[in-house]
Amino acid sequence: MADIFTEFKVKDLTLKNRIVMAPMCMYSSDDSGNVKDFHVCHYNTRAIGGTALIIVEATAVEKRGRISGNDLGLWDDSQTSGMKRLVDEVHRYGAKIGVQLAHAGRKNETGEDVIAPSPLLFNFKYSTPREMTQEDIDVVIESFGQSARRAREAGFDFIEIHGAHGYLINQFLSPLTNERKDNFGGGIGNRRRILKKIINRVRLEWPMEKPLGVRVSAYEYDASGNSTEDISMIVNMVKDYGVDIVNVSSGGVIDTKIDAFPGYQIAYGTEIKKKTNMPVIVGGLLENHHMANEIVRNNRGDLIFLGRELLRNPYWVLQSSRKLGIDSVEWPKQYERSK
Ligand SMILES: Cc1cc2nc3c(=O)[nH]c(=O)nc-3n(C[C@H](O)[C@H](O)[C@H](O)COP(=O)(O)O)c2cc1C
Repeated sequence: MADIFTEFKVKDLTLKNRIVMAPMCMYSSDDSGNVKDFHVCHYNTRAIGGTALIIVEATAVEKRGRISGNDLGLWDDSQTSGMKRLVDEVHRYGAKIGVQLAHAGRKNETGEDVIAPSPLLFNFKYSTPREMTQEDIDVVIESFGQSARRAREAGFDFIEIHGAHGYLINQFLSPLTNERKDNFGGGIGNRRRILKKIINRVRLEWPMEKPLGVRVSAYEYDASGNSTEDISMIVNMVKDYGVDIVNVSSGGVIDTKIDAFPGYQIAYGTEIKKKTNMPVIVGGLLENHHMANEIVRNNRGDLIFLGRELLRNPYWVLQSSRKLGIDSVEWPKQYERSK
């Protein structure tokens, strides 16, 4: 029976355990979108701490696709070398590393050419977006492709397409934010069209042997929004274009309060896993190693993402292995005396 310390293989990527660092924006670059020393130190610490897979924070595929003026980017060739340094460093400490490719759409807080499927405001802190033209859609799809090429050149092990939390792709997927009358709006088959095209374009640059993931918001906390069943249907419609794993989150599409509790998203992940037959990364407010282990042991999820808990405690994997009495986990040789 698998547990959180069991290896996991997807395509040519082998993870030494089931713990994934959730993508988390650090807003610590500048207008260049380049990797800074902070990023190397931050991600390396989690690599040293035993995390199997690190997913680098939402990284903008276009300058106007940033959330803030401090986002990381892969919208320009000049950004590749900084990312390569980050990848090489994290690899030195035994972790695998992916990047989350993202476009903020209407949740771009810089105010610079804010675009979305429909001209609908998120809340008063943001600008009302301009409805995207066919040309804008083509540019965004191509930008995902070019960023995937740069991610390949930087040596990443994994790409995750950010289709969650109400950012651009999610704005297309959701009936709450997509009122288009063309073939990118309307029924679910049309609303998922941009995601399908992005996956197709990314796969032209991203080798088939390397895993590609999509992060989804499995529930939108509004009865008129996508349900977990809708999101499962969308995954089923796009998976054959080269998706290998689904990272299951929720919310962010509309400005509403979420009643979150430890494990609040696990059932969404398990439902998607069952309905799509795809491996899933699940999490949300998890910090307890028994709880994380239960999810994997009961096959309710394949990989566990930890976000804030890894900000508090980068050594979660090492500490949990010690608490659970698992001897097989390899500690960094410098830290062996603390095992
Ligand atoms: C500081 C911070 C930044 C985040 N940035 C991102 C992001 O870039 N991409 C993303 O998909 N989710 C982002 N999230 C959501 C996390 O990936 C995760 O889903 C969420 O925090 C719930 O997991 P947790 O309770 O373990 O933190 C962010 C969360 C935090 C706390």
